[in-house]
Amino acid sequence: MKKIITYGTYDLLHYGHINLLQRAKALGDYLIVALSTDEFNWDSKQKKCYFTYEQRKRLLESVRYVDLVIPEENWEQKINDVKEFKIDTFVMGDDWAGKFDFLKEYCDVVYLPRTPEISTTQIKNDLK
Ligand code: CTP
Repeated sequence: MKKIITYGTYDLLHYGHINLLQRAKALGDYLIVALSTDEFNWDSKQKKCYFTYEQRKRLLESVRYVDLVIPEENWEQKINDVKEFKIDTFVMGDDWAGKFDFLKEYCDVVYLPRTPEISTTQIKNDLK
């Protein structure tokens, strides 16, 4: 069984997220999403989510490509997660290209092209 992991906030779940999750799952058999907690978002990125962690988690768990949602609580947990869950491939959108190449020692690292013209920030701005 080939295991994939990806990280993110996934606030106001949108079609850019779904495209990413679909392509990530297609790289293997089992997709884990490490979902940023509200505390991690606020403390590390000064980002306040519209939906709570539990709401975002429930939405992701309802997506057919997602097999497991775990919390992302800090920047340092990735190597441990890759080892603990025996991950074959780490996937992120290419807005993060190159940032996680240190994981290549432990698994494959893939950056997928982002879907153009959609983001949570864009949705929030447009609705303002
Ligand atoms: N993503 C994507 N295409 C988009 C938006 C996001 O492929 N148009 C991917 C990101 O590259 C990341 C994952 O979806 O791998 C989760 O991204 P996240 O930062 O939660 O979503 P954004 O919409 O980019 O949110 P924000 O505007 O707050 O950065």
